[in-house]
Amino acid sequence: MWQPKVIMQNGELIPFAEARVHPLSLAVAYATTVFEGIRAYHNKASEQLALFRLDEHLQRLAIGMKVMRFDQIYAAEYLRHCLFRLIRANQPDDDVYIRLLVYVEAVGLMATTGPVGFTAAAMPRERPKHADTGMSLGTSSWHRLSDNASPPRVKCTANYQNGRLAQLQAKGDGYDGALMLTSRGKVSEAPIACLFLVRSGRLITPGKSSDILESITRDTIVTLYREMTGQRAEERDVDRSELYFADEAFLCGTGQEILPVTSIDRLPVGNGRIGPLTSTLRQRYFEVVRGITTDHPEWRIEVPAQVPGSSELVKQLA
Ligand SMILES: Cc1ncc(COP(=O)(O)O)c(C=O)c1O
Repeated sequence: MWQPKVIMQNGELIPFAEARVHPLSLAVAYATTVFEGIRAYHNKASEQLALFRLDEHLQRLAIGMKVMRFDQIYAAEYLRHCLFRLIRANQPDDDVYIRLLVYVEAVGLMATTGPVGFTAAAMPRERPKHADTGMSLGTSSWHRLSDNASPPRVKCTANYQNGRLAQLQAKGDGYDGALMLTSRGKVSEAPIACLFLVRSGRLITPGKSSDILESITRDTIVTLYREMTGQRAEERDVDRSELYFADEAFLCGTGQEILPVTSIDRLPVGNGRIGPLTSTLRQRYFEVVRGITTDHPEWRIEVPAQVPGSSELVKQLA
């Protein structure tokens, strides 16, 4: 597996191990950071590397910077070019996972809004552990944080303490992962992924007012399902007990991709095996993200083979 060589901070490529932020910066002290996890998929036949739905990720990041009232909102075109440089400088020969973080780098008070800085890292990422076997989820007693407390549709690092508590509890209780309910008691999402259920062939997912992140993968699945079946997925409130009536369930997210769920609260989902619609959607998802089909070219942004300014440091390090 390829290894990251360089990382980008504020537009500069530096050796991976030399990235720094001050421990008293707002980024560390108050988790004043918004971020994105983005994947670029390598197509072996065409040798192309394409970032999946990059524009949507950069749009969500820009709204995050606005909502968090950062002094600076980086332009999408600038960040896109930075990611191209970063990826080519690392010379990957396979898929790439990108972490792009924008934060208040100042040492200051809680309401300090700048200066703002960013870090972008390109790394390999193994397939999630439960992708082929299915996973067990446990409903957490930790509620999903709510829109009026710390808005879950903003992808800020502070929100992830909520999911972390739920995940640690679930692992401690012997599950592979957690599922969280809203403070209204409706099903929300997993700590880093959204949930889908299947009942009698119909696809169901908690609605956007269920304190979820407005997931790009969720939107991809809803779109692919509509194209494949001519039906709309049901985006609505899901009661906890409806989880136990589902024939199939899966999680989705950029990092998690499509993860089948085979039990919830120690009750089997359907027959306890990976379901047929889950398998079909997963196969379709990988065809689309990897560019094995020509459908949805607008979702795949090719990384140019040569990017000015991408190789100088790597040559020096070699
Ligand atoms: C809390 C949360 N929900 C859902 C998702 C899935 O979002 P996306 O499909 O945009 O990656 C993520 C992704 O990291 C997440 O952190």
